[in-house]
Amino acid sequence: MTAMTPLTTSVLDLAPVLPVVVLEDAGHAVPLVRALVAGGLPAVEVTLRTPAALDAVRAVAAEVPEAVVGAGTVCTPEQAAQAAAAGARFLVSPGCTDRLLGGLRETGLPFLPGVATASEALTLLECGVRELKFFPAGAAGGVPYLEALAGPLPQARFCPTGGIGPATAPAYLALPNVGCVGGSWLTPADALAAGDWARVERLAAGAAALGEARLSAGATCR
Ligand code: 3PG
Repeated sequence: MTAMTPLTTSVLDLAPVLPVVVLEDAGHAVPLVRALVAGGLPAVEVTLRTPAALDAVRAVAAEVPEAVVGAGTVCTPEQAAQAAAAGARFLVSPGCTDRLLGGLRETGLPFLPGVATASEALTLLECGVRELKFFPAGAAGGVPYLEALAGPLPQARFCPTGGIGPATAPAYLALPNVGCVGGSWLTPADALAAGDWARVERLAAGAAALGEARLSAGATCR
């Protein structure tokens, strides 16, 4: 197992935007994450949707110490264990089951389990989990839905992901129960295929600026 420093900051507070990456080629991982960091986004979620994903996590953990690499699309306890062994510093799942929650906890890593309804959020709150992914954010009700949850469930904080882009991210980031938003718009497949890391850096810089705009609008980082 790779020894990694535990995070001292909540995953939700690492950056305003959490890039969600699908990597077909593990060789892209290091230059891609360096570009994200150079643009101002230190955290990245590598989705376990491709055969390259675990090698990508391993490479970033070993070669980009200034980044915080996590694994996403963690759907089984086995994947949680594999991601932790590869050096993931946090885990993200699209939904949650009792079995998966056990596996996520077993790793000792921070994790964001996915929820799409008030009942799913309540179930995880009952288990002591307050930091959640809201997925699929756009399709599940978007900003009005999350805003409505803030009243009855003020203790829950979210990373909405799914269908979010630079135009819609600010409205999510303005909500009191949103720590950060996730999205794949920073890492377009054609930019990765072309090795256009300058484009990724520009997209990351635009996303990082959303956090600065949020702070100047009076939001607080918790
Ligand atoms: C996820 O994996 O969390 C989402 O599918 C990412 O959604 P997006 O591609 O709409 O940003």
